[in-house]
Amino acid sequence: CIRYDDRKEGNTTHLEWLLALKNIFSRQLPNMPKEYIARLVFDKHHRSMVALKKDKVFGGCTFRCFENQEFGEIVFLAIAAQEQVRGYGTRLMNHLKEFAKREEKLTHFLTYADNNAIGYFQKQGFTREIFLEREKWGGFIKDYDGGTLMECALNFQLSYTQ
Ligand code: ACO
Repeated sequence: CIRYDDRKEGNTTHLEWLLALKNIFSRQLPNMPKEYIARLVFDKHHRSMVALKKDKVFGGCTFRCFENQEFGEIVFLAIAAQEQVRGYGTRLMNHLKEFAKREEKLTHFLTYADNNAIGYFQKQGFTREIFLEREKWGGFIKDYDGGTLMECALNFQLSYTQ
């Protein structure tokens, strides 16, 4: 799990990973302006979890933690075309959930799901019904016309990665 600030520690590998992830998002999310993707992937408030095979990025997720509000927003998520529907998207989500609850003490994830990804998010435990109080998230995440807001409550009794 990395973020742009890592560059300050001279970590060029992380910078390369973020660049590769940005390119996967640009290809897999053609409705998103490329500049917008680049801005958020390299924004210090956003973090990214990358999926690696032999040190090569083939997918990942960019998200933002609102620690005080105890929720996270999944902003972009994609797996490279040739690796899709092999279970990697599920593994990535499980690691993200585990990280969010263990390291950040988040209780929920929210995301604006693209219409063609609603099925995927439902399989990951996301619902269209939002149970989290609106006061917690309203005004924090940006309203986005092209998607459906979905929620996932994180289960603290469960390990998502075992
Ligand atoms: N629609 C419906 N079901 C799907 C989709 C989809 N687009 N993609 C995967 N699934 C299903 C799979 O069939 C599988 O079902 P099963 O468990 O019954 O076999 C389950 O979801 C999990 O599939 P994975 O193989 O783990 O998912 P994958 O590695 O393909 O990753 C992802 C899913 C990230 C959606 C990938 O297909 C992708 O990158 N798609 C293009 C980009 C995209 O749509 N990203 C999400 C946009 S929304 C956002 O960014 C906030």
